[in-house]
Amino acid sequence: MNFDQVINRSEYPSFKWHGQALQEHFGNANALPFWVADMDFPAPPAALESLRRRVEHGIFGYEYKTDSYFDALLGWYARRHQWSIDQTHIESCPSVLNAVSILINQHSEKGDGVITQTPVFFEFRQVIRSNGRRIIKNPLLFENGRYQIDFADLEAKAAKPKNKLLILCNPHNPIGRVWTREELTRIGDICQRHNVLIIADEIHGDIAYPPHRYTPLASISDELAQITFTCLSPAKTFNIAGMVDAITVIPNETYRAQFHDFAHRYQINKINVFASAAIEAAYSQGAPWLDALLAYLQTNVDFIRGYLQKNIPQVSLVEPEGTYLVWLNFTGLGLDAKALEKFLSQKAGIALNPGYWFGREGAGFARMNIACPQSILHEALSRLARAAKEIAK
Ligand SMILES: Cc1ncc(COP(=O)(O)O)c(C=O)c1O
Repeated sequence: MNFDQVINRSEYPSFKWHGQALQEHFGNANALPFWVADMDFPAPPAALESLRRRVEHGIFGYEYKTDSYFDALLGWYARRHQWSIDQTHIESCPSVLNAVSILINQHSEKGDGVITQTPVFFEFRQVIRSNGRRIIKNPLLFENGRYQIDFADLEAKAAKPKNKLLILCNPHNPIGRVWTREELTRIGDICQRHNVLIIADEIHGDIAYPPHRYTPLASISDELAQITFTCLSPAKTFNIAGMVDAITVIPNETYRAQFHDFAHRYQINKINVFASAAIEAAYSQGAPWLDALLAYLQTNVDFIRGYLQKNIPQVSLVEPEGTYLVWLNFTGLGLDAKALEKFLSQKAGIALNPGYWFGREGAGFARMNIACPQSILHEALSRLARAAKEIAK
């Protein structure tokens, strides 16, 4: 496990690295990319070995989800997160966003509100709007360098009968909070009292930096589990997003039957052979690799913090508790949202997601993916330091 090794991803059409994608989104085909949320590291050795065996076998027919697949998944959540998932509560579909979109459709009507805590993963906005629902913002509070939930505002929004759903992002992309058990309990309590169902997107759950610990919302109580749809996926944890497979945990029997019928009707409940091979191996044997990854990511966080303090004090790190996406505060540069976007992509030549992509509350910030060898991070920060010096002249 050598996370320092630089692997050329341009050889294949990586969305993150492809010049055309960079040109389209940043107007700079040569920008160094830190935007799309995947990693520049190979998947765990056990997953690679399992994939190699599959390729050598040479037959890629329809695949059955075996008990050993479920054992690997359930064992992972029991061991790492003390959450015992009932296998019969699991529904499958190709991606977390598929599940989020289906659930929005099934549990709200056109014109209803879906609450979300901004700044937040921009695809939520896209999925809510394209389903004809309204985004109801429960903006996070930024206090003393840390984001908090505005519970009074959440209560007021949840109390409106048209607001049927909350999409919770735990850990939160892009601001990196790992919501505590106390915070989650309060969120759950508010939603229970106002009949708001919760779509808990926990795709980043495995990436938490000690002492922070991810708590699956549905593990808090059976009552809360009954109003929660938990969206899980091995995509971020093991860097296999391109294989597409997601897991939705639905303890409520009626809601589960609804989801199941939809997945069956649209035939989106099949599993890809490679996903199946990689996932079972990763969940059953990938723990040492993930522990090593987390330690490496922590050194990247420390490196960025130290570099910024020493060389670019106008820019600061919002301390991440989880995810490999760090939220940087650029307000010290005194640039407006568009000028900051241009500064990063054109002057510094680095592709970071400008904060306003996550809602206007994110203006002045940018998200940087740090799941890459430290030498690449070093190059990005040197570019940033040079560009910051130039505009300070
Ligand atoms: C919070 C969150 N949810 C969902 C996704 C996408 O998941 P999928 O590719 O399974 O739809 C991402 C990817 O960046 C994400 O950050």
